[in-house]
Amino acid sequence: MTETSSFRAPKGVPDYLPPVSAEFVAVRDGLVHAARLAGYGHVELPIFEETALFARGVGESTDVVSKEMWTFADRNGESFTLRPEGTAGVMRAVIQHGLDRGALPVKLCYAGPFFRYERPQKGRYRQLQQVGIEAIGVDDPALDAEVIAVADAGFRALGLDGFRLELTSLGDETCRPQYRELLQEFLFALPLDEETRRRAEINPLRVLDDKRPEVKEMTAAAPLMIDHLSESAKSHFDQVLGHLDALGVPYVVNPRMVRGLDYYTKTTFEFVHDGLGAQSGIGGGGRYDGLMAELGGQPLSGIGFGIGVDRTVLALEAEGKTAVTGARVDVFGVAMGDLAKQRLVAVAGQLRAAGISTDLAYGGRGVKGAMKAADKSGARFALVLGDREVAENEIALKDLGNGEQRQIGLDDVVDQVSAALASQRD
Ligand code: HAM
Repeated sequence: MTETSSFRAPKGVPDYLPPVSAEFVAVRDGLVHAARLAGYGHVELPIFEETALFARGVGESTDVVSKEMWTFADRNGESFTLRPEGTAGVMRAVIQHGLDRGALPVKLCYAGPFFRYERPQKGRYRQLQQVGIEAIGVDDPALDAEVIAVADAGFRALGLDGFRLELTSLGDETCRPQYRELLQEFLFALPLDEETRRRAEINPLRVLDDKRPEVKEMTAAAPLMIDHLSESAKSHFDQVLGHLDALGVPYVVNPRMVRGLDYYTKTTFEFVHDGLGAQSGIGGGGRYDGLMAELGGQPLSGIGFGIGVDRTVLALEAEGKTAVTGARVDVFGVAMGDLAKQRLVAVAGQLRAAGISTDLAYGGRGVKGAMKAADKSGARFALVLGDREVAENEIALKDLGNGEQRQIGLDDVVDQVSAALASQRD
């Protein structure tokens, strides 16, 4: 009996189904591969952590912490939160397991779901997928450039090119407090509404991110961090740019960039794609030199990025490209008759054991329907077997690209199909 289910996925939470799921996997794995090429090791961390970790790590004044966390009490009344981002959890794990006492930098990579209670729309989900990397323990501008270059290379290897890298420096512990005062002085002289004034008190940088035209106009002449960097922060930033030039990574300096998380210091960056509408950020990151100490560890520096896999998939789609190479299967088997079916099931097992992806037509839907399914599968070859051919120990190998068909020996299928696939690849 079939009944339409009234269950639906939670609002703003995507399902990943074929064929889009293949695109999703190709994008995620492509980005992870770029990190592997630079020596980042895999970490698999908890989906939920103590709520206080994010409050302390990401910052109480951020939207992420104050409005978007999925927080719940466990059966003991302890407060936990579904991870809204990856950096705080990585730092917690590094401190907990003493990785910071070993060889530095600690270079880690992760991929998986994150949770933010945002208003859902295209490219903005309540369960989102990121690939991220973190390089912890060395404050070297070359490492900043490496992290940025890994993201850039990851996008390009997928075929994406309609994006730009924006970066700036948010200063260090000496120039940041001074700049904060300077910016507050400027903001407090403006006729700001009550709420914006309060924001200027807690985190004045956020006011520069205000999208309202009247506020934008008022803050157009605000002092910018990049013009007030300490000697060492400026030198660090200049070196990062120098390394990016040498790496051939194009960028634009955007001194008004404001990130949504509070832990950033010095180099911060965003990858922006214009094909996505409002949700244009396909990835972002930066240095977080105070985070480890804030979470109770040693005063070590760090830098990393998080790339939105969902948005990268949409960006590729907007460029009319695909990251998927190859079809769902290489070979599709069609049997006519019971004896043929029995034999073909075994042949499929042999092909798969030899590493050749194989699917079969199931259910008795006739040759026409089965050949349609073969075409739809995207397979390069069909194997067509009838009861008479079983007796003759033969099977038909059909090239689904050009329609050519020939008989091959049934005992020789694996070798013949391997050879046919290899000759197509050449
Ligand atoms: P983030 O900028 O908050 O940074 O997120 C990184 C990326 O995740 C964004 O650029 C975007 O592509 C994607 N993303 C964020 N929210 C959503 C959403 N609601 N729906 C779909 N995609 C989304 C971080 O999370 C930092 N932990 C990155 C980092 C690592 N910084 C240093 N290390």
